[in-house]
Amino acid sequence: MRDVIYSHFCIVKKSIFTTSLMQWHKTANDRQMPWKGERDPYKIWLSEVILQQTRVEQGWSYYEKFIKHYPTIDKLAKAKDEDAYKLWEGLGYYNRCKNLLFTAREIVQQHKGVFPSEYDNILALKGVGPYTAAAIASFAYDLPFAVVDGNVFRVLSRAFGVDTAIDSTAGKQYFATLAQEVLDLKEPGAYNQAIMDFGATVCKPALPHCAYCPLEKHCVARATGKVNALPVKEKVLQKKTRWFTYFIFENDGRLYIRKRGEKDIWENLYEFYLVETDEKPVWDTTTVAGWLDEQFRLTNATVGHITTGINQQLTHQTIKAQFILVHLKDKKFSLSGFDAVGRKELSKYAFPKLINMYLREKANIVTLF
Ligand code: ADE
Repeated sequence: MRDVIYSHFCIVKKSIFTTSLMQWHKTANDRQMPWKGERDPYKIWLSEVILQQTRVEQGWSYYEKFIKHYPTIDKLAKAKDEDAYKLWEGLGYYNRCKNLLFTAREIVQQHKGVFPSEYDNILALKGVGPYTAAAIASFAYDLPFAVVDGNVFRVLSRAFGVDTAIDSTAGKQYFATLAQEVLDLKEPGAYNQAIMDFGATVCKPALPHCAYCPLEKHCVARATGKVNALPVKEKVLQKKTRWFTYFIFENDGRLYIRKRGEKDIWENLYEFYLVETDEKPVWDTTTVAGWLDEQFRLTNATVGHITTGINQQLTHQTIKAQFILVHLKDKKFSLSGFDAVGRKELSKYAFPKLINMYLREKANIVTLF
């Protein structure tokens, strides 16, 4: 019986996920891109190949240049190699350009210039993997194939609270199945564009806009305080430098701390609200205010101080941590997974060394504000 109830719960949750995402796409997704809504498989294919290893902002002008020079697959098939390579210059991974030319000529010579319209035939094209094939099949023909990439892993792992590693065999299988289950079968193309845009603009890797997220009420990661810990990767890239920002939320003399659940060297120690970024964050009173709004719709909090970076050298990594003290004015503020503890009681809890350095002011901590 429990299994039946759980399974029913999951079905409902999945349908809420899909409906909310599509609703967001239709009413609030204002991301503009030149290939958006395109139905011509040639143009979609071109845009997806450009976006395989290139960021949208960088790929944008290349897409426009290619479409201008080669508006049809026939034109691309007839292109001189040197001309196409010249247009590709600066994008990198030149094999993509080679495959585009090869495939355009093959389609023109062997298939009368007609782009394949079945998933397996699209997947069989040189330089087209499962992600690109699903994107082309759904955008051009509304075929029911869900895209699965880093964006999708992140959105799904957070919304459904899945902590299976995305780079494990079990994880890849699990996420591929889940992605397919939450696909909107009525509009697969719109759905795939929606999840790509949602992952890029709302459910971002660092500093996601949770307070304005249409899924906030349904998001398991949000409810359990795991947004910044998901998705999980098995093989943690040995990054040389990691950037930590600890937000010390103070409310009526109490500070918010939580027990760290992540399976790392700080597991079971206590910490303040932690945000990890891949690059050095730029924190000042304006960027902190913007982040507090995006995260919590907090507009009446004040910044007590922002420290400079405090370094900790570990065996394989350097941690650079900044501490930001935020005074809250809303007595009802709650942070799921966190306890509000009086300053005097802090000494009862075990903290990582970096936090102790901050708390005990042992390091030469300089505050910027
Ligand atoms: N990345 C890959 N394909 C994309 C698309 N169609 N829109 C935005 N980002 C993408």
